[in-house]
Amino acid sequence: MTHHELCIQRCFDLASLAAGGVTPNPKVGAVLTYRDKIIGEGYHQFPGGPHAEVNAINSLKDKELLSKCSLYVSLEPCNNFGKTPPCVDSILKYKIPKVFISIIDANPSTMGKSIKKLKAAGVVVELNILKEKGKKITQGFFSSIEKNRPYIILKYAQSANKKIGIKGEQLWISNPMTKRLTHKWRSEINAIIVGSNTLKIDNPQLNNRLYFGKSPVKLLLKRNGQIPSDTAALLTAGKTIIISEPNATIVKIPNVKQWFIPFDEALLTNILHNLKKEGLNSLLVEGGTTLINSFIQQNLWDEARIFTSKKTINHPKSIAAPSPEGMLMATHQIGDNSLSVIENLDQ
Ligand SMILES: NC(=O)c1ccc[n+]([C@@H]2O[C@H](COP(=O)([O-])OP(=O)(O)OC[C@H]3O[C@@H](n4cnc5c(N)ncnc54)[C@H](OP(=O)(O)O)[C@@H]3O)[C@@H](O)[C@H]2O)c1
Repeated sequence: MTHHELCIQRCFDLASLAAGGVTPNPKVGAVLTYRDKIIGEGYHQFPGGPHAEVNAINSLKDKELLSKCSLYVSLEPCNNFGKTPPCVDSILKYKIPKVFISIIDANPSTMGKSIKKLKAAGVVVELNILKEKGKKITQGFFSSIEKNRPYIILKYAQSANKKIGIKGEQLWISNPMTKRLTHKWRSEINAIIVGSNTLKIDNPQLNNRLYFGKSPVKLLLKRNGQIPSDTAALLTAGKTIIISEPNATIVKIPNVKQWFIPFDEALLTNILHNLKKEGLNSLLVEGGTTLINSFIQQNLWDEARIFTSKKTINHPKSIAAPSPEGMLMATHQIGDNSLSVIENLDQ
């Protein structure tokens, strides 16, 4: 890696510390270097809070030094007055002479405008450093702007012979390490959804208990709204949304919301539309096969993360696993499970 790439990589690492906590804003990290050494850094920590560049600037006691520093940032500095003043103005105020950026902002209010402003003021600007990684870090934010829906990840575990479970039975296919990894993903995601059979049979808690950080908003599909009050996902902390048909039973449980949506071919699109309205930019679909397949059939997915165990399931009531078709981007061995990451290129 070059020096510039190393500094931008540090920005990504800082940005990741925000995990799923800054939505609907993007995760952003920034570092300041002086004589090629990092002397200040910051990241966007919560929505409405100071942006990464401002936190990096504020991490320096000696503001005079800023006029001799280089700023590295994972996303183009903002150009608009939102809850905080434009970061581009802070860069100009402190006369930072060089700015290195991974990706241009997708938000039309900024999109290249800050870069123009910096260049017009004589600042040296370099773009597209580790651009692909930069886009990955901000994928929820980009998906929300470019596709008008959250970034969607399908996740499931399958046996060696591609079965996801046995009808009516709870079955563990994954292992403790893949379980912990799933909880890390839950900490990074804004919302999680399961189908009604999974809700009944597996009774998952759907929160993050095995990794630090937040838990996602839990979405439970239940056509008639009749969910037993001892359902685990209702008892775990955090917001839960039950998705039911318009004439369903009204659920009255504290911290539980209900969306009334017709269970027709537009169900998923309507759910995604509601998530966008709530500022939730990423969604983890945790099964079962019926729900995952409906996302695949409507081409509403970006990535699939599939654990495959060495065990086989030979049972007359076994349930076939989904089979999303896309580009295999990575494989990892995690104990006795392998993890395949597939990206949907047909978007
Ligand atoms: N190995 C794994 O990673 C994993 C993960 C999760 C679950 N599982 C297993 O998978 C099994 C459950 O899978 P499943 O395929 O039977 O059920 P499921 O996907 O959990 O739930 C299916 C039900 O959800 C509702 N639903 C889902 N998608 C819908 C859509 N697009 N439109 C309308 N309604 C929709 C329907 O409910 P209504 O019938 O009420 O209309 C449908 O019958 C369980 O055995 C569970 O243990 C395995």
